[in-house]
Amino acid sequence: MKLVPQSIIFGALATTAALFIASATLVGGQAPAAPAPARRPAPAPATPAPAQRPAATGPRAQMAEDVFTNITVLKGVPADEFMASMGYISNALAVNCTYCHLGDGGGGWPEYAKDNDKKRTARRMILMMNAINKENFGGRRVVTCVSCHNGNIRPKVTSNMSVYYSVPTTDEPDAITRQAPGAPSAEQVIDKYIQAIGGAQKLAALTSYVAKGTFLSYGEADPGRLEIFVKAPAQRAEIRYGGSTTVYDGRNGWHAVPEAISPLSQRVLNGAELDGARLDAILALPGQLKTALTAWRGAIPTALGDADVQVIQGTTASGFPVKLYFDDESGLLLRQIRYIEAAIGRSTWQYDYSDYREVAGVKIPFKWTFMWQSGQSVVELTDVQPNVAIDAARFTRPAGPASEAPAR
Ligand code: HEC
Ligand code: HEC
Repeated sequence: MKLVPQSIIFGALATTAALFIASATLVGGQAPAAPAPARRPAPAPATPAPAQRPAATGPRAQMAEDVFTNITVLKGVPADEFMASMGYISNALAVNCTYCHLGDGGGGWPEYAKDNDKKRTARRMILMMNAINKENFGGRRVVTCVSCHNGNIRPKVTSNMSVYYSVPTTDEPDAITRQAPGAPSAEQVIDKYIQAIGGAQKLAALTSYVAKGTFLSYGEADPGRLEIFVKAPAQRAEIRYGGSTTVYDGRNGWHAVPEAISPLSQRVLNGAELDGARLDAILALPGQLKTALTAWRGAIPTALGDADVQVIQGTTASGFPVKLYFDDESGLLLRQIRYIEAAIGRSTWQYDYSDYREVAGVKIPFKWTFMWQSGQSVVELTDVQPNVAIDAARFTRPAGPASEAPAR
């Protein structure tokens, strides 16, 4: 697998901005001093309602207007959702941040507060979108920037006839709502997966691991080093030296990046992001996968490249759908897609897993690509030590991001 040759968001000028933004957008309000309380699982709706915002699960972080200096239309939006929204609108128009923030990223964060015509238009668009939803859809957020723009600066007024008259490309449903006739149930797909990676017994015997490897962010020439600590059933810490640190302790999650690249460098994870950190921890040693999500649906057969896959969907505690794609032949997990709430739309996070290798009799992916609205990175593991004792401090709130890589 190689890097996508050209990101539609980050053109040639934005090499540094890409890293800057990728890190920046992953972080939100300054971390409150108090730890997040126990999660309050919301009952999963019988039918997914993708346009509705599920109730938040934790205390909300600081609002955008508390953290930034020139917020007018997105007041009352948590800072992390605000930053996710910036990624969302860039993606909706297929532009770089610097399309609306003219400093080319060179002016630092103060530059982003300055107004210009593009920003003013975008503000008007947000208000228009809210009005359309209010007047026509009872306030449900069904029309978004994507509805009209869909990757264009100016929405098209012509239709694409090849959509009707050519061979259809694979287009799976946005949400999995049912089990296709003749397809296995979601539970059967998970059972096959557990079998494929070595079986429940071997999996139960692997209770922890420590992995070393590299990460390569979009636009970077050289990979950085990382370490990942995993402990069953649901603890995980990923330390990217010179980059982000993400920790999930089984209940709470944290994210830290260097202050130099973000005004919001440390925070407690909430809502969909917290759910996501939990799922990543469980998928690292997936013995508890079946109970990790609720309201399982599927499978629906589709294709991923050359592979025939079965897609299933589950719902996280905050009510967000997660889609999991399993190779029909090998049974292995090839893709995870989940959603993070942004104030004006829903951001997509996608992981593509590959290079499964055995660790103490259990197959784990040694490579994955992570893609989201404003960035991509590729992780490759080089060494995985099974069943090692891990200091409990690894799974506590990080003091900050890690700058120095440990000696090899
Ligand atoms: C289509 C235009 C557009 C794009 C693209 C865009 N923004 Fe914004 N940005 C805005 C608007 C509009 C505001 C002000 C929002 C308001 O007034 O509530 C804003 C405000 C901000 C602020 C707050 C600045 C301050 O101190 O007041 C930051 C930070 C920011 N954007 C970061 C980003 C990042 C990072 C990206 C790329 C991922 C990005 N923006 C892409 C339109 C855009
Ligand atoms: C109902 C459809 C619709 C929605 C929803 C919508 N837009 Fe637009 N937008 C348009 C149209 C149409 C134009 C082009 C107008 C023109 O050509 O004069 C436009 C133009 C723009 C422009 C100016 C582009 C340029 O440089 O000329 C920006 C920036 C923009 N939209 C941002 C957004 C953002 C951000 C959102 C979501 C918050 C959004 N739009 C939602 C229809 C929409």
